[in-house]
Amino acid sequence: MASHSSLLIVLAVTCFVSLISPAFSQTCSTQNVLTTQKTPFQTCLDLPALDSYLHYTYNATNSSLSVAFVATPSRPTGWIAWAINPTGSGMVGSQAFVALRSGPGEAPVLKTYNITSYSSLVEGRLAFHFWDLRAEALSGNRVVIHTSVKVPAGEDSVNQVWQIGGNVTNGRIGVHPFAPANLGSTSVLRLTGSDAPAAAPGGASTTPPGQAGGPGNAGSMTTNVNLGVSLGVLALLGSIFVL
Ligand SMILES: *[C@@H]1O[C@H](CO)[C@@H](O)[C@H](O)[C@H]1NC(C)=O
Ligand SMILES: *[C@@H]1O[C@H](CO)[C@@H](O)[C@H](O)[C@H]1NC(C)=O
Ligand SMILES: *[C@@H]1O[C@H](CO)[C@@H](O)[C@H](O)[C@H]1NC(C)=O
Ligand SMILES: *[C@@H]1O[C@H](CO)[C@@H](O)[C@H](O)[C@H]1NC(C)=O
Repeated sequence: MASHSSLLIVLAVTCFVSLISPAFSQTCSTQNVLTTQKTPFQTCLDLPALDSYLHYTYNATNSSLSVAFVATPSRPTGWIAWAINPTGSGMVGSQAFVALRSGPGEAPVLKTYNITSYSSLVEGRLAFHFWDLRAEALSGNRVVIHTSVKVPAGEDSVNQVWQIGGNVTNGRIGVHPFAPANLGSTSVLRLTGSDAPAAAPGGASTTPPGQAGGPGNAGSMTTNVNLGVSLGVLALLGSIFVL
């Protein structure tokens, strides 16, 4: 009797823990963000800073990159940004897509910024062609920036920069905080090669099959959740054996 009820308690606790853990370690693979054509993106990444996520598909045939950047503004009237820096790896030179909210609950508004210095944030044209730019509000105050950009033909990676901003005043964005995470939110986004997403089906990839992003590599970007589930199962097995 006693062992039965303690088994039930352990099972209940284990199930509860496996259910709530995604809230603490959210990963892009649970976000269900779709392209403008309502199809899944090829790959998603849990970006290494600022609780931000990138869903993307690269089409090597016409070197176009479709992305959905997910982040949570730090306050109700705040902004998020995702950028490509064609000339460097930091903020200066970034060609940025910014989604800002002018008031709590208001629909996010999109602007583009050609960032030429740390001191001036001025709207501007971008250095590359882009289309399908739109913003979307998700639950939990999260915002998604969708866009497709033309990557120079032959480039196998781009420098990406992202940010969660400060406040918004009269439609203008204020400076972002200077915490370590705000200063380290850059990375190289590989489009082709060993750690890139699998080649698009039907796309005439010029990469030899052996080098195209293998399933193992593409999969490693989204294994966090599976790992969480496996740990839950292990904990479950463990608790049964302990009893
Ligand atoms: C590339 O192809 C995609 C999918 O067919 C299309 O949406 C996009 O407009 C094309 N991009 C360019 C730069 O032609
Ligand atoms: C971005 O700003 C710099 C400096 O003002 C300028 O040289 C460059 O042409 C601008 N880019 C575009 C696409 O307008
Ligand atoms: C907005 O941000 C600026 C710069 O950080 C700050 O000086 C100002 O007080 C902020 N305004 C509000 C309303 O939070
Ligand atoms: C990639 O772009 C080409 C040219 O627009 C298009 O024919 C092809 O369908 C696209 N591939 C995917 C997977 O969208």
